Amino acid sequence: MGNQDLDKVIVNSPGRINIIGEHTDYNLGYVLPTSIDKRIRLTIERNNTDTQCEIRSEGYKKALLVDLKHIAPSNTQWENYILGVLYEIYKRNKELKGFQCTIESDLPVGSGVSSSAALECGLAFGLNELFDLGLSKHEIVTLSRDAEHNYVGTKCGIMDQFASVMGKKDHVILLDCKSMDYTYVPFSIAPYKLVLLNSNVSHSLASSEYNTRRNECEEGVSILQKKYPNISSLRDASLEMIDAGKIDMSPKVFDRCTYVVQENIRVLNAVEALEKGDLKKLGTLMYETHEGLRNLYEVSCPELDFLVDFSKNEDEVLGSRLMGGGFGGCTINLVHEDAADSFIQSVSEAYEKEFNIKLSHFEGHPSTGTTLL
Ligand code: GLA
Repeated sequence: MGNQDLDKVIVNSPGRINIIGEHTDYNLGYVLPTSIDKRIRLTIERNNTDTQCEIRSEGYKKALLVDLKHIAPSNTQWENYILGVLYEIYKRNKELKGFQCTIESDLPVGSGVSSSAALECGLAFGLNELFDLGLSKHEIVTLSRDAEHNYVGTKCGIMDQFASVMGKKDHVILLDCKSMDYTYVPFSIAPYKLVLLNSNVSHSLASSEYNTRRNECEEGVSILQKKYPNISSLRDASLEMIDAGKIDMSPKVFDRCTYVVQENIRVLNAVEALEKGDLKKLGTLMYETHEGLRNLYEVSCPELDFLVDFSKNEDEVLGSRLMGGGFGGCTINLVHEDAADSFIQSVSEAYEKEFNIKLSHFEGHPSTGTTLL
C-alpha cells in the first residue's frame, strides 16, 4: 500500500538495553540486546514544500531548520543525528520532501540506553512511511548507523540501531553482527528482573575512546593476519590465536583482543543459560563482562565500578555490569523482584554518599521495536 495520502505519522522509537555482548558489534561478533518500553516519540507532518524542514525537540527552544538541498554538519551534537539521517536518506531518495517534526522523549539522554539510535531510526522510520520511500528495515538500521559515523563522528557498530528497530516484546535478540542473522530468544527471568541504575555521569572520553578502542582492535586483527591470513575480524579469532600473536602486540592491543574474543564466547553461553533458565550462570557471565570491560577493555569509570562492586554484597543480585559504550551511563542488574526496592535504596544512599551524585533507576522490559501509532 502506498502512503501518498498520508499527511502525518507518529512514531514510537524505543531505547535499547543489552543483556551481554559489549563492544563486540563492530568486531563482527555477537550481541544480545532488545528494545525497551521507554521511547522517543516523533510526530512528522508534510509541510508541502520541496525541501524545507523544521524540527523541534522538547527542551530546546530553537528549532532546527534544514534545507534538504544544503545539508551540512552542525556544531550542536543532537542536530547531527537528525542532519546525518536526512543526508543519508536524501542522497538515496529524492522523494523525501519538506516536513515538520516534533520530538518528545522519556529516554534518559547519555545513560547508555541509546537515545541517539532511537532518534535516528525513529526519524528514518517515520519519513519512510510518510513519503513512501521504500526503505527496508535493514536499510533504516544501516543508514542510521552511517549517519552516526559520518555526521556525529562515532564509529559505532550496528547493535543500537538494530535493537531499536527490530525488538520483540518479551524477547532478546541474538544478533550475529557478521552475517546479520538473528534469532529472538524468549526472555523469562521471573522472579528476577532487570534494574537499570543510571550513574548520571557521562565522561567526555566516551566518543574519542570509543574510536580508539575500535582502532586498537583493528590493529590486533592486522597483526593476527600475518600469522592467520584468513582472519578478517576478531570474530574469526580464537583465544589460542590471540595468545600466539601476543609477542607482536602491545599489551593494550593484546588485552583488547582477549576481551572481545572472551565476550563473544560469553554471549553464546548467556543464551544457553537463558534457555536453560540458569539465571545464576547468566549473572556470573554479566559480572565477568564487567571485569573484562574494567580491566582489559578499560572503558569503565569509578562510578560504574562502585555500583557493580556494591551489588556483589547483595545475595539477591545475581549479576551486574556496565552497559553500552562505557565511561558513564547505566549498569544493568539482575535482581530478585522481592529485593529490588531495598537494593535500589541502599545502593542509592551509598552512591550519593560516595560521589555526591543522585542515582536514578528504571526497569528494563523487552518490548516491541519501532512502531507507528
Ligand atoms: C555503543 C555503540 C554500539 C556498541 C556499544 C558497546 O552503544 O553505539 O554500537 O558498540 O557502544 O557495546
